[in-house]
Amino acid sequence: MRLKRALRATVTLAGAGVLTAAMMVSLAPAASAGTTLRASAAEKGRYFGAAVATGKLSTSTYVNVLNREFNSVVAENEMKWDATEPQQGRFSYTGGDRLVSHAQANGMSVRGHALLWHAQQPSWAQGMSGSALRNAAINHVTQVATHFRGKIYAWDVVNEAFADGGSGGRRDSNLQRTGNDWIEAAFRAARAADPGAKLCYNDYNTDGINAKSTGIYNMVRDFKSRGVPIDCVGFQSHLGTTLAGDYQANLQRFADLGVDVQITELDVMTGGNQANIYGAVTRACLAVSRCTGITVWGVRDCDSWRGSDNALLFDCNGNKKSAFDAVLNALNSGTPIPTTPPPNPTTPPPNPTTPPPGQVGCSASVSVNSWTGGFVATVKVTAGSAGTRGWNVNLTLPSGASVTNTWSATASGSSGSVRFTNVSYNGQLAPGQVTEFGFQGNGSATGLTPICAAS
Ligand code: XIL
Repeated sequence: MRLKRALRATVTLAGAGVLTAAMMVSLAPAASAGTTLRASAAEKGRYFGAAVATGKLSTSTYVNVLNREFNSVVAENEMKWDATEPQQGRFSYTGGDRLVSHAQANGMSVRGHALLWHAQQPSWAQGMSGSALRNAAINHVTQVATHFRGKIYAWDVVNEAFADGGSGGRRDSNLQRTGNDWIEAAFRAARAADPGAKLCYNDYNTDGINAKSTGIYNMVRDFKSRGVPIDCVGFQSHLGTTLAGDYQANLQRFADLGVDVQITELDVMTGGNQANIYGAVTRACLAVSRCTGITVWGVRDCDSWRGSDNALLFDCNGNKKSAFDAVLNALNSGTPIPTTPPPNPTTPPPNPTTPPPGQVGCSASVSVNSWTGGFVATVKVTAGSAGTRGWNVNLTLPSGASVTNTWSATASGSSGSVRFTNVSYNGQLAPGQVTEFGFQGNGSATGLTPICAAS
């Protein structure tokens, strides 16, 4: 049902685009270019990945293709909630660990999929609600991200939380019913547990500018403005026989918010357009400098969750299909990631009318979201009538409380009296302008009184 909707929600490729792509498919890659997906993607500063079922790592045809062609992996099922916490508080990492070892032995990065999702929850969580579920979910994020800490390139922290159709709103689920802030709570917990991993929101039916992708776009923009730690957006891209004409423009509008984008679960219905669509998706990613990689959802057609769609790049014997040639050609002719990064559009330009020191002030207020044993505090800094060149906020934490993670500010100290100083992009505030930073901590944080000082 879900897949059918995904297939319907696409737009036919323009005729000229199809022709160009079809011609490219028949060309052999240039002599100097890579001959494997992983080498060609790496030349362009990207990764090319596949979803892996660890049970197949002992099948030689499968593992030979995997190791030759891919330099990134994601567990098809082994890192999901039902697999990693089959009973509450009892964690099982056998499949995930096996995949991580395979990746490390073969020079592959690992995408983590997925910390929280409405589907594939263990039955104990399916039956929970309210604060018991919220606490269990945040604990799950913390435990799993901590276990894999330092080994994951990017985590799908939250998967498929938006509704299909025209509402642009959230999907109903037990997690959504714990409160609209469940997504940001999950991202904060993930950042605290593994500060080195990129944290992604991942969804499907977002292959173009539509109500659902716009709902997600608005959430990401809100998260960035409030300092919620999000680094990337994943576009699953389970595709039918057509591709939205604004597929690339959609990736670009997310990148322009200051997040990376990735194609995370690509597979395409078999048929005349399959190779063209694979080529077009690859070209779109390469044309967006913040599109850091592509993952296909399986290795061979018969490994695919899409049954008889023959949706992947290799046939069941491990032979390359024309879709493979289309992807390789697109990789070999694509744009490398520039060595000098383009200016970050989210960084405000230096303020030429900087106020002199001594004439400025600021105020701060704090809101705290607590659970047993921990909390997240969000601090709002408002510039006084002269604006700020920089600011700091002092807070005294109650005894037993400590800061474990801070975003959009730098903390000095972690318990007792803690000083938070602006980071490079949020120190300069116009008169009355507001910015936010936050921190996560252990213990309980009651009665916090922030004191703001500006320079
Ligand atoms: C699929 C797996 O491929 C199947 O093996 C499993 O039975 C169901 O889930 N979106 C996602 C992926 O985010 O986790 C799903 O994977 C495919 C759709």
